[in-house]
Parts: sequence; C-alpha cells; structure tokens
Amino acid sequence: MAEQSKPHVDEYTGVDTTGHVWDGIRELNKPLPRWWLWIFYATIVWSIGYWVVYPSWPLITGHLNGVLGWNSRTAVLEDLKGLQDLRAPMVNRLADAEIAGVADDAELLDFTMAFGRAAFGDNCAPCHGAGGGGAVGYPNLIDDDWIWGGQIDEIRHTIAYGVGNDHPDSRLGIMQAFGRDEILDGEQIADVASYVRTLSGLEPAPDTDVEAGAVVFAENCVDCHGEEGLGDHELGAPNLADAIWLFGSDHATITETIQNGRQGNMPAWEERLGATTVTALAVYVHSLGGGE
Ligand code: HEC
Ligand code: HEC
Repeated sequence: MAEQSKPHVDEYTGVDTTGHVWDGIRELNKPLPRWWLWIFYATIVWSIGYWVVYPSWPLITGHLNGVLGWNSRTAVLEDLKGLQDLRAPMVNRLADAEIAGVADDAELLDFTMAFGRAAFGDNCAPCHGAGGGGAVGYPNLIDDDWIWGGQIDEIRHTIAYGVGNDHPDSRLGIMQAFGRDEILDGEQIADVASYVRTLSGLEPAPDTDVEAGAVVFAENCVDCHGEEGLGDHELGAPNLADAIWLFGSDHATITETIQNGRQGNMPAWEERLGATTVTALAVYVHSLGGGE
C-alpha cells in the first residue's frame, strides 16, 4: 500500500528519502546521474535532426522524405550504376572480342573468368553444383566428357539456347522409352543394359545374355550412341563406353533409362542474361573442363 511520509534523511544510508512509502519500505531519493541525462537529451535532439535530414515518419501516403532527399533504393541503384560504369570498358571489350581470342588477352581473360564465375554462381550452381561438379541428371562440367561438345563455341551454344526447351535453337536430345513404348521387352532390356555395362568394363548382371544384348544394341541404339557406344554430340547422345554417367551405371538405373527414356532440360540463357554474359559463362565453363 502506498503511503506518504515526510521527506527526511534516511538514518542507515544518510540519503534523502522522497517521501514515498510502500508496505513500510521508503524510497531513497537517487536521481539519474547528470551525465546520463545529458546523453539522453542529446539522443532526442539527434533524432529530431535525423527526421529533418533523412526519410523518417510514415504519412497517410508515403513518408517524410528528409531535406537531403536520400533514399536507400536510389542509393543502391547508384552503387550498381557505379559498378557498371567501372566494368563498362571491360564488358565492351568482351562484347567486341572473338570468343576464341579471349584466352590470348590476359587482362580480358582475368576479367571474363571473374565475371563468368559470378554469373555461374548466380544462375547455374543450383543445377550443376557450385563448382560445376553436377549431380544425377545434371552433367558434370569439370570433366572432359561432353554430351553436346566441349569446344568453346559448342559450349556457348548449349548455354545460349539450352536443351529441350521452346527456343528455336534449343538443343534436343531424346532417349526413347524403349520399354514403355513396347519397342523392346523386359528380357531384351535387361540384356542390352548388361551389354552397355560391358562397354565401360563393368560386370554384366547375372542371368542376362550379353551376346543377345549386343544384337539389341546394334539394332536399336547405334544410330544415336554409335557402334562402339561412343555417343554423338550432334544428337546429345552420351558416350556409354566411358566411366562417366549422367544418370548412373548400375544395372537397375540403366534398365530404367532404357525402359522409360530420358529427356534432359536446361533453360536458354541468352535472352535472359545477354550475349556478353553468356560468352563469359562459356569461357568460364570451358576453362573448367572443356576441350573434347
Ligand atoms: C534417338 C537417339 C537415341 C537412341 C536410338 C538411343 N539413345 Fe540412349 N540416349 C540418347 C540421349 C539423347 C540420351 C541423353 C538423355 C538426356 O541427356 O537426358 C541417352 C542416354 C542414354 C543412357 C544414359 C547414359 C548416362 O550417362 O546415364 C543410356 C544408358 C542409354 N542412352 C542407352 C541406350 C540404349 C541401350 C539404347 C538402345 C536400346 C539407346 N540408348 C538408344 C539418345 C538415344
Ligand atoms: C534447371 C537446371 C539447370 C540450370 C539452372 C542450368 N543447367 Fe546446364 N544443364 C542442365 C541439364 C539437365 C543438362 C543436360 C541436358 C541433356 O540432358 O542433354 C545441362 C547441360 C549443360 C551443358 C552441356 C554439358 C555437356 O556435357 O554437353 C552446359 C555447358 C551447361 N548445362 C551449362 C550451364 C550454365 C553455364 C548454366 C547457367 C547459366 C546452366 N547450365 C544452368 C540443367 C541446368
């Protein structure tokens, strides 16, 4: 219960009391230290100055703009513009350069690699991995094994127009569904899957006939994958005779590929990112493992 008592000097501490008493406990008069108060007042003055100068209070529509007219959105845009201006001479040089000649110009190559690496991280890493290592169904870009060719302009074409999309220049690679479309029966598929494994020195699955599989292969697969299974860049048919697999080398995965077919999809990037960025990406990706 709050009571009042006459302010007096507290006998234990020697400090004045305020006269407020709660349940017999008297309040000592201990004001805030001066220095603290002054800092507190100074922050209030500062905040008023801040409202005047910078954008602050919301209004019914919009907000106070501040006399400086500063705005975080335009500030970012200006920073970006500054960055673009800084880069412009090199970007223009890259835009004018022959892609094959970029590697001969050390300064341009340095810039292009950094530019390409950044664009790769922003756009390509979700599917191909941060370092380009790929994943099941998403090709590894660091090895020298290319579905669509590893020459720099082949790589550039793949990036610019993508694979299996609506762009008129898109690459299109179709692995038919031999089982689902009833071109081959289960036994033929099991046999040819075993034969495919032997092309890269892997063991055939038990209870399959590799010889019969070789015949199935010769009759159905060589048009795209070639007689020795080395693949065809024009058709996007992967090399089946190396140790590199897009979907997997075990008998069950190969069987699944032949049974239901495959159709890789990759977006077209030129319209989205612009020709110069695509060139930088091609130079960067080529440096990872291009050649073949
Ligand atoms: C019309 C062309 C075509 C024919 C015919 C064809 N393939 Fe393919 N095959 C492809 C393409 C294109 C791919 C890659 C699909 C992708 O990238 O999604 C592929 C992928 C594969 C793969 C996956 C390779 C990997 O790295 O994971 C296997 C295995 C395969 N084919 C086996 C066969 C067999 C066996 C036959 C014959 C029964 C056959 N293909 C017939 C075009 C063809
Ligand atoms: C949505 C997933 C996805 C994204 C994002 C993506 N890719 Fe791809 N990319 C693929 C797939 C899937 C293939 C394989 C297509 C096929 O089966 O032939 C591929 C193939 C490629 C190839 C051809 C590889 C070869 O062996 O010939 C290159 C080069 C490539 N991508 C580069 C890029 C670059 C550079 C970017 C970023 C600008 C990018 N990709 C973004 C999915 C993607």
